[in-house]
Amino acid sequence: MQEKENTRDKFTSGLGTLAATLGSAVGLGNIWKFPYLTGANGGASFLLIYLISTLIIGLPIMIAEISLGRSARANAFHTFQELKPERKHWRLTGLAGVMGAFFILAFYTEVAAWVFAYIFKAVTGGILTTDPQAASANFKQLVSSPVQSLLWQWAVFVVIGIIIIAGVSKGIEAVTKRLMPVLFLILTVLCVRGLLLEGAGEGLKFLFSPDFSKLNAGTILTAMGLAFFKLSLGMGTMITYGSYFDDSQNIPKTAFRVMIADLGVSMLAGIAIFPAVFAFGFKPDAGASLLFITVPAVFTALPFGQIFVVIFFLLAAIAATGAMLSLLEVPVAFMSEQLKITRIKSTIITLLLLGLFGSLAALSESSLSGVRLFGKTFFDIYDYFTSNVLMPIGGIAVAIFSGWIFGHDKMITALTNRGDLKNSGIARVTIYLLKYAAPVLILIIMLKGLGVF
Ligand code: TRP
Repeated sequence: MQEKENTRDKFTSGLGTLAATLGSAVGLGNIWKFPYLTGANGGASFLLIYLISTLIIGLPIMIAEISLGRSARANAFHTFQELKPERKHWRLTGLAGVMGAFFILAFYTEVAAWVFAYIFKAVTGGILTTDPQAASANFKQLVSSPVQSLLWQWAVFVVIGIIIIAGVSKGIEAVTKRLMPVLFLILTVLCVRGLLLEGAGEGLKFLFSPDFSKLNAGTILTAMGLAFFKLSLGMGTMITYGSYFDDSQNIPKTAFRVMIADLGVSMLAGIAIFPAVFAFGFKPDAGASLLFITVPAVFTALPFGQIFVVIFFLLAAIAATGAMLSLLEVPVAFMSEQLKITRIKSTIITLLLLGLFGSLAALSESSLSGVRLFGKTFFDIYDYFTSNVLMPIGGIAVAIFSGWIFGHDKMITALTNRGDLKNSGIARVTIYLLKYAAPVLILIIMLKGLGVF
């Protein structure tokens, strides 16, 4: 045990731990998924369900994952074995997480690829138009080009590969610590810009006034799925990051801060986007293309529009990078520790495999646009299956494992740092939510949302 702690890399400071964990949570989920899902599912009523899911399901599970990881100091797969060697099948949960993180990356890196491409195209002027038709044609031109789709995805692989190879403290922590402040700065600028627009009020009203008629089992599942996706849950990510937390780090407090800051980023992203969308007479429910069609068209129309388009996609790229690092770390840590190979080897193997499965998502709108499974493209299958099936199942598994198998006493020990912290009340509420509320709620919402009953 002692030896392992000495050779294993970890986060080196409280601030670095927070930056890395927040870097994982904040991502395209805030800037791409959150605005388009809120836009398409009725604004504030969706927001409300999302907030409730975050508080009573997301937060406890995040705390549980980090605690399990730190208690075991192992990758997502080995964590379950380390904590309960006699219950072998629990390792499958870890394995599912490793695979889940991999399949999220398979489509997430493609959305990040579009973001990277858009920064470049905004700088060169290629996507600057105020005409929605032309904006849509620009996006189609990008996604329907197999060469561009693959090359930009590989550019993303190279960026995240280099940082991951640099290591946990010198790569992930060092990079996120520098990028997170930049992210907040850009977001503030864009928000102020949004609020100063004439007609901004309508965008805010849309975001904050509820339309309950849009709520049904499907939208509730979507809101819960978003809560999972946002806090990087159910896929071994927080377990893996937790294994790099220092013993003195206050886990409930860190998780709470990350949750609040992450919500803040989503709100700010909404405030940066919706007022502009309304001010220029666009529809808020454009779906996944909101980010790539509506946003460039709307921002180009502003004075100094080009600058705003560039920094908007810069923001998205920064957010996406921190999230991808945490996703890539899951299979990389798993492979290098289980197969006892170097980090470099394990990163390269993971990226090569990702090149294979990711290309199926990258080519979903071009070479493979005719190939469908269950009526969905590979891109949509990866997205739907991970958010609506793997993440909830992973969440249930983590809740049950931490609450019932690892058990109450050990969880209390982990959450209070062996009694050093005076937070046993919070710890008890968390464990209660994990044992009873989370598994039941997730199961009901998942089965109902999938149309099982
Ligand atoms: N939370 C990130 C976002 O909102 C995405 C993400 C990173 C993620 N790691 C994850 C989602 C693990 C699910 C599981 O963009």
